[in-house]
Amino acid sequence: GAPVEMKIDKIEPGQLVRSEWRGSPVWVIRRTQAMIDSLSLVEDNLRDPGSEQPQQPEYAKNQHRSIDPEWFVAVGICTHLGCSPQFITRDFGSMEGVDAGFFCPCHGSRFDIAGRVYQGVPAPTNLMIPPHYFVDDATILIG
Ligand code: FES
Repeated sequence: GAPVEMKIDKIEPGQLVRSEWRGSPVWVIRRTQAMIDSLSLVEDNLRDPGSEQPQQPEYAKNQHRSIDPEWFVAVGICTHLGCSPQFITRDFGSMEGVDAGFFCPCHGSRFDIAGRVYQGVPAPTNLMIPPHYFVDDATILIG
């Protein structure tokens, strides 16, 4: 499949924008500072902290799993059995300071706002990060 261009200059903080790449849903989220800060609160509760699954770019292996902490790009498919997780932006779980993440309605897998899977759920690995790069401040190319 051809690379997909996404314009990001109109995305508001906290907003998720959807696209499609190779027949799969792709998300771009402009994370708020609170979302970025929440990543350090969940470190002890992660199932796949190193993002060690194959076919993940190097920039998917840091805490925010992205090139720039503000911008999160992911494939929107649950790594358990392929359902579509929901983007939750309030009252996500019981941890103080953690208000946003992803919840899969099929079997209850939960992921943080970097797509990192929590312990104790069926999904074995973090959400996949597609290869991508910033063409300029307003444009991401996926693929
Ligand atoms: Fe998402 Fe099973 S498909 S938890």
